Amino acid sequence: MEVKILLGLLACCGFALVRAELEGYKIYDVTPTNTFEQQILEHLSKFEDYDFFHRPRALNVSSRVMISPEDQDDFENTLNKFSLGFEVINEDVSKAIHLERSQNTLFRSMSRGVSFSSFQRFNQINAYLDELAAKYPNRVTVNNVGKSYEGRQIKTITITNGDKKANKNVIWVDGGIHAREWIAPAAALYVINQLVENFSANKDLLTKYDWVVMPVVNPDGYEYTHTKSRMWRKTRKPSSSSCTGTDANRNFGFHWGEVGASSSSCSDTFRGEKAFSEPETQVVRDQLLKLKGRAKFYLTIHSYGNYLLYPWGWTSQLPSTVSNLDEVAKAGANAIRSATGTKYTVGSSTNVLYAAAGGSDDWAFGVAGIPISITMELPAGGSGFDPSPSQIKPFVSETWIGIKAMAQKVISKY
Ligand code: ARG
Ligand code: ZN
Repeated sequence: MEVKILLGLLACCGFALVRAELEGYKIYDVTPTNTFEQQILEHLSKFEDYDFFHRPRALNVSSRVMISPEDQDDFENTLNKFSLGFEVINEDVSKAIHLERSQNTLFRSMSRGVSFSSFQRFNQINAYLDELAAKYPNRVTVNNVGKSYEGRQIKTITITNGDKKANKNVIWVDGGIHAREWIAPAAALYVINQLVENFSANKDLLTKYDWVVMPVVNPDGYEYTHTKSRMWRKTRKPSSSSCTGTDANRNFGFHWGEVGASSSSCSDTFRGEKAFSEPETQVVRDQLLKLKGRAKFYLTIHSYGNYLLYPWGWTSQLPSTVSNLDEVAKAGANAIRSATGTKYTVGSSTNVLYAAAGGSDDWAFGVAGIPISITMELPAGGSGFDPSPSQIKPFVSETWIGIKAMAQKVISKY
């Protein structure tokens, strides 16, 4: 009896001492209305403890930032001191995370195989690829192309129409470079699902082209957001200095480390100790170099913000072939807009978003020589990175409409 009570007490209070994930964290929208306020915000965004969901962009455009309970007083005081307008859009992030985790667990347990009604764990995604390879051996090949830092098997799936023609042109799609952007692997998975399991409707996309899809570039980070820390962005390799993780989208070896990429390992945009310091970016690099000459379209899926971005991300100058890039991106934006009304902003990364060097898109275009290279930033769900499970299907099917339109344009041009 006494032992029972003691155990009960321990269970209760041991639990109460542990803070729930992101308990008391708040999310703010901060909007600068003049250049001075913009400079203040720019300055605040350099603080490593402030988690900016996206970097400040322009006047009158709000930035979203997550702040820990410890930092909230200081943060709000600074905003007030410089009379920067802000709005608290989430009073306690832990509640949303908790709800999301339980919904996902429930919906996952309710469906067998791949599903677009919950976010899939990395093992489920890999299992789905292997299942397709077994079921459609004529049209599907799965390759183990490398390992993540923590030893997870990174796979690509190559999808063909089964004609066994070698050296066809290739469309490459990847997702999950950034761990917390869960909708990105889901969208890549839907591309796979449509091309393979809805083959008869999509076979025109496979007549002249093969598709290669890497649904999760950064599996360590992805799993970490599922088990430990929902808002993690980077890879999981510790740096030799203090902190863990590199922003894989600042780690590619083209104008590496120049602009919009931090040299501090604790920053969310840490560029890494050198270009391609991360096994995950090496894997993408090596696969794209293997496809050199064949790959005509590099598409990398991120979230959020509704953007179709093309090079350059390291300079405000535009590549000489900008009209081709713009034509393809606009085809995607227009198709989505007429299908669902969702609006995407089209332009060069630097000019419509911000300058950030070391991105996979710039490298694919500038070094791997892929003529069309696009970063697609899907719409926000929840407070940004956390669409509810019921939003997955509408988001990924809308995205597929845009991807199809861009692919058709590429196929007709190259
Ligand atoms: N949100 C993406 C990032 O910050 C945008 C990348 C655009 N491309 C670029 N090369 N900057 O990684
Ligand atoms: Zn991203």
